[in-house]
Amino acid sequence: ALRDNTVIIVLGASGDLAKKKTYPALFGLFRMGFLPKGVKIVGYARTKMDNAEYLKRITSYIKNVDDDEGKAKLEEFKQLSTYVSGGYEDGESFDKLNQYLQEIESGYQSKERNRLFYLALPPSVFIPVAKNLKQHCYSDTKGSINRVIVEKPFGKDLESCRELLRSIKEHWTEDETFRIDHYLGKEMVKNLLVLRFANVAMNAAWDKNSISNVQITFKEPFGTEGRGGYFDEFGIIRDILQNHLLQVLSILAMERPVSFSAEDIRDEKVKVLRAIPPVEREDTLLGQYVAANGKPGYLDDDTVPPNSVCPTFTATTLWIHNPRWEGVPFILKAGKALNEAKVEIRIQFKDVTQGIFKDISRNELVIRIQPAEAVYLKLNAKTPGLYTRAFPTEMDLTYKRRFLDAHIPEAYESLILDALKGDHSNFVRDDELDVAWKIFTPILHWIEGRSGQVPRPVSYPYGSRGPKELEAFIQKYGYKRGTEGYAWPVTNLA
Ligand code: BG6
Repeated sequence: ALRDNTVIIVLGASGDLAKKKTYPALFGLFRMGFLPKGVKIVGYARTKMDNAEYLKRITSYIKNVDDDEGKAKLEEFKQLSTYVSGGYEDGESFDKLNQYLQEIESGYQSKERNRLFYLALPPSVFIPVAKNLKQHCYSDTKGSINRVIVEKPFGKDLESCRELLRSIKEHWTEDETFRIDHYLGKEMVKNLLVLRFANVAMNAAWDKNSISNVQITFKEPFGTEGRGGYFDEFGIIRDILQNHLLQVLSILAMERPVSFSAEDIRDEKVKVLRAIPPVEREDTLLGQYVAANGKPGYLDDDTVPPNSVCPTFTATTLWIHNPRWEGVPFILKAGKALNEAKVEIRIQFKDVTQGIFKDISRNELVIRIQPAEAVYLKLNAKTPGLYTRAFPTEMDLTYKRRFLDAHIPEAYESLILDALKGDHSNFVRDDELDVAWKIFTPILHWIEGRSGQVPRPVSYPYGSRGPKELEAFIQKYGYKRGTEGYAWPVTNLA
């Protein structure tokens, strides 16, 4: 349940993440009436600025407030938001913050003083801030709750992740810690549990006997413009595959949890991830975009080192060694500067027994995570008319059509609400991170040249579908293109 008397403290309040995601989500929750009664929001960062400037910044990405209701709500939201500036490393700054929080809390009726700290910060200051918050800003009146939300990057490989987790754990318990992977807050990712376990028909076909191969795809139509410095240190595997796509895979492939409780779900996720050996070089295709159609190449970005071999595209195949999935390739693909924005899961079923049919398309279940949320099943049906001829068609659950007035929440809205309620189901547990890094660390070290030669990514033009080698890559794992000319008819309902 939500706790009244809560202060939400956003550290890194003047940064990009706070401005673009955290504050719009907080406002969204406030507007829908999902923040606790009496909530206050305090921004904290190094930048010195007055309250007016702060309010201007944190509302700059808030949308849909042109009507009277929106304007009024935004005014109310501003009333409960204030700002304090201070350093991240020194205790005195945090003492000042603590005094400020106490002033605010003196207005609360009960003794309970709950604090939710949201660390929208660069990794270089995670550790000192976690320590300072615990030592100087921890609310210890009886019955109070303290929670801390942190965001990736959680280290750069297995070792650095363990080190980071260990340092944070010196101050914050697992129960108090909420590690965000914002893909877990997306509506269609949350939907996976229901689609899989509330449908006998679906569940019955969910294994190596029926499924030939699975693709989980992330495509973005823009490059790393402006973020080149950050990106070059991490690359697409750490940015997308090791976290977002692997999280999706784990829910897609795990066994049925005993209950919907956070620990039951996360136990199953860890179990399936542990059955995946580290990614092999032979199963990996690396790409980097080059200039095309008037758009710059990755290396044209001034913030990127001139000879960088950092992959901006990766396709890699994972294998799950358990009785359900043995032999089924799970192909993860992610790329920047591609031809479209799309995140989807594509499950391709095996060929139907031949003989009575020739050249018939395979069934495919597609779960469109974004944009235009949808679930559709490619299905062969008889062509209407006096012939008996099969034709590829689809059963289609497009959200915009089926749920006319539904409001699909932003991932961050959903996750911040969970953290306020203390529900860990959609946050990443420590052992999940550990096993995720085990899968990707060897390939990352290879890419960085730790075992000798640095592999060169193949190039692909900005705005293309990816490297030309991709088609052969996915076919190697058994993916078959369907009938020529078939396209799902509802792609434009974004
Ligand atoms: C972030 C990555 O985690 O996810 C970004 O760092 C990426 O590079 C973003 O653009 C994608 O998130 P979404 O919600 O837009 O799919």
